[in-house]
Amino acid sequence: MLTAVVRPPGDSFARAISAQEPRPTINPDMARQQHAVYRAALQQAGVRLIELPADEQYPDACFVQDTAVIFEGLAVVARFGVATRQGEQAAVRQALQGHKRLAEIRAPATLEGGDVLAIGSRLFVGLSARTDRGGFVQVRDLVELEGGSVEPLEVPEGLHLLSGCTYLGQGVLLATDLYADLPAFAGLDVVRVPAEESYAANALGLGEYVLLPEGYPQTSARIRERGLETLSVPLYEFAKADGGATCLSLLF
Ligand code: GLY
Repeated sequence: MLTAVVRPPGDSFARAISAQEPRPTINPDMARQQHAVYRAALQQAGVRLIELPADEQYPDACFVQDTAVIFEGLAVVARFGVATRQGEQAAVRQALQGHKRLAEIRAPATLEGGDVLAIGSRLFVGLSARTDRGGFVQVRDLVELEGGSVEPLEVPEGLHLLSGCTYLGQGVLLATDLYADLPAFAGLDVVRVPAEESYAANALGLGEYVLLPEGYPQTSARIRERGLETLSVPLYEFAKADGGATCLSLLF
């Protein structure tokens, strides 16, 4: 059974980091409503939830995926470069104790979970504005000891690697044009996300289900053509803060 650590947004989500210009107005009440729909969809897909309380100290704390990388029995706690996210990991670390062996990314390296794409035992680490080569090297060394392989991938635009491609399971990769033709993904069944639906490239594979943002009919239809069932949820309040379907769960 899959487990997801989730954390609803607090009122401080109104101050979450956003790369969008002009800065959108974020409505925390609406975000909380959407988060409730998101949690219900996870439960519909049979996922067990560990729900952490909102933390007003950290505006972006709902994006729990960024706080750790989980591989088999190991959880590597992330290290944020951006000041307003440093410290989010503490509650997640506590939640993972007893479930996983914990390791940490050490300073000065940085790494966020949103930059790690896992395809079975192959991990790809996006080198982005948030994850540097030192973070890649540290997670590679830790995951290789567990029998996984880890390769770097450049993130030419967008917040994280997972902003542009996500693995849905069963050999199916969802990807924008930025990533769809990479040799690293040869042999996978790549579902190409049209440019006008690029936000939907961040979707959460949950076995036979795929949780994706509502309002992206072409991507949804292409996923269903693969025999997967889609759960579409409204996530537009989180999109304003550059977060999507995977960002709101730390799955193991
Ligand atoms: N708002 C998500 C992030 O920038 O980390």
